[in-house]
Amino acid sequence: MQKRSIKNILKKKNKTPITCLTAYSKSMAKIVDKYCDIILVGDSLGMVVYGMKNTRKVKIDTMIMHAKAVKKFSKRSLVVFDMPHLTYKNKFLAYKNAKKVIRLTGCDAIKLEGGTRIAEIIKHLVERGISVMGHVGLLPQTSKNFKARGKSPSERKKIFDDAKAISRSGAFAVVVECVVESLAKKITKNISIPTIGIGSSKYCDGQILVTEDMIGMNDFSPKFVKQYGKINKDIEKCVKKYVKDVKIKKFPFNNNVYR
Ligand code: KIV
Repeated sequence: MQKRSIKNILKKKNKTPITCLTAYSKSMAKIVDKYCDIILVGDSLGMVVYGMKNTRKVKIDTMIMHAKAVKKFSKRSLVVFDMPHLTYKNKFLAYKNAKKVIRLTGCDAIKLEGGTRIAEIIKHLVERGISVMGHVGLLPQTSKNFKARGKSPSERKKIFDDAKAISRSGAFAVVVECVVESLAKKITKNISIPTIGIGSSKYCDGQILVTEDMIGMNDFSPKFVKQYGKINKDIEKCVKKYVKDVKIKKFPFNNNVYR
């Protein structure tokens, strides 16, 4: 399959669903890269890999280490770097950090959380040649509760306005997180860039999940996640078998020995 580009992603709006997953490591990137349009090096890494309570304390240098590995082993997906909390507080800081990220990792784009409030920052970055993905609805870096968004008229209006502002700012796509179906549908219909849903119904232009949630490697399984496997159970089986073989001196087997 061909190497994905921003142009290619934009063309898929209203035509072909855009497929996205997260990756934080070489091994995951190699697999996801074969099938997905976009790989997100998400700051969810803080919780998934480092056992943090939320994403607020994830450091940019930690993300850069992981993104370097992911980018190195992604040959065709578009690789997007999730800018951690407080690394894009204003347009100058955002540009300084985004430039460093792109230079050190070679990632194709960055992602920022927020709506109208950060539209000027996105515009500033895009004007300077940095491709940006937005993120509206539930915003894990600043949200206090993790419930669905867009249930009240005022919240619906705010999220809709946020999505419009992101679309106008020059972003090439926007993640729409945990937004009720009718609002996700309305946003997707009314903005010109692709919407990438997470917990926001099939009416988005594409879907994203945290890979570890999707393969059943995490205990975390909210309603919007479909677990396509139970990898935790498979890993446990392997560990149990290995420990048993070591204890009874069955492992190393003959073909695992240098003679
Ligand atoms: O950090 C992350 O993984 C995300 C998602 C959209 C899944 O922001």
